[in-house]
Amino acid sequence: KVWESFKPKLGRVDLSTKSQLHPQACFKVAVLGAAGGIGQPLSLLIKMSPLVSALHLYDIANVKGVAADLSHCNTPAQVLGFTGESELANSLKGVDLVVIPAGIPRKPGMTGDDLFNVNASIVKSLVEAVADNAPDAFIHIISNPVNSTVPIAAEVLKQKGVYDPKKLFGVTTLDVVRANTFVAQKKNLRLMDVDVPVIGGHSGITILPLLSRTQPLVLINNKETEELTARIQNAGTEVVEAKAGAGSATLSMAYAAARFVESSLRALDGDGDVYECAYVQSDLTEIPFFASRVKIGRKGVQALMASDVLEMSDYESEKLAALKPELMASIEKGVAFVHEQT
Ligand code: NAD
Ligand code: LMR
Repeated sequence: KVWESFKPKLGRVDLSTKSQLHPQACFKVAVLGAAGGIGQPLSLLIKMSPLVSALHLYDIANVKGVAADLSHCNTPAQVLGFTGESELANSLKGVDLVVIPAGIPRKPGMTGDDLFNVNASIVKSLVEAVADNAPDAFIHIISNPVNSTVPIAAEVLKQKGVYDPKKLFGVTTLDVVRANTFVAQKKNLRLMDVDVPVIGGHSGITILPLLSRTQPLVLINNKETEELTARIQNAGTEVVEAKAGAGSATLSMAYAAARFVESSLRALDGDGDVYECAYVQSDLTEIPFFASRVKIGRKGVQALMASDVLEMSDYESEKLAALKPELMASIEKGVAFVHEQT
């Protein structure tokens, strides 16, 4: 069931009848970093959602043209563009969900952590504005390194007195999308049927696909498990190298983030059957932020799916033990960054 409805729902935007005016379209979404490589296609996909009534596009540059362009699509969302810090507060007023893809992407030879110095400050200042202007909104963090930027966001929200751990999400959907694609290819399965939970964090060895828990049940041998795990962990680098200096994944990321936005909006709309993998505050392990499958409801994270962590293969248990020190260090680095600034 996980994610099943994303594609069909986009396909059901029927502009030939009055159905697009169905009261479903009632959520306001803001995209911060909307003029970027991810921001633009993500905004297009969100504009296609039948659940969105208003789409606020914010960037430090070039966003008015993106907003004008998108506003001509005959789907329900009203699109508004906001440029520069002076317009940031207004872009956030009254929004139900904020997606943050603002920040620099990797070039070949860089690790996600090399982005920390620039992106930590960007995420900190944007989340401060979210805390002041949309304290009840769901927040989706895409900016890397996600393992650190989500703890940064949490600390900022705590300092502002508005932290609700159920509403803060690091977007790891791309790891699931990739795992599903690569497993379907390898095992010759129908793509739409495949669902692989991916847990841990969002970089290198902290990405842990639970291939033993693939749906539908399929036998993946040890060699295949090792190859698939390595490919899923290195998939971001695969794209960075193919783009050869022109950035990192943007289109597959926009697709994945749009799926996560759509799922969150369905949850806000009262759908009681929404499950996603996301990097959230967690007590499934001793690591305070951890990606796992989560059930999402109107108020955000409703439950963490403990079974994934309790029923792992030996190979996955070993990988989990190995990722914990790196993930913990990234979290501590994010927390320390916010405290050093105050
Ligand atoms: P990009 O450079 O194409 O776009 C970034 C955008 O952010 C630009 O339009 C820029 O003007 C804007 N920006 C910079 N500072 C800003 C600020 N203070 N306020 C608002 N906007 C600001 O980069 P991209 O390819 O879109 O990638 C964006 C981020 O997403 C990177 O950090 C990248 O590593 C990350 N990413 C994450 C995932 C994931 O799975 N979570 C996947 C791919 C990329
Ligand atoms: C990805 O998974 O593609 C992103 O996190 C971008 C990157 O730098 O790997």
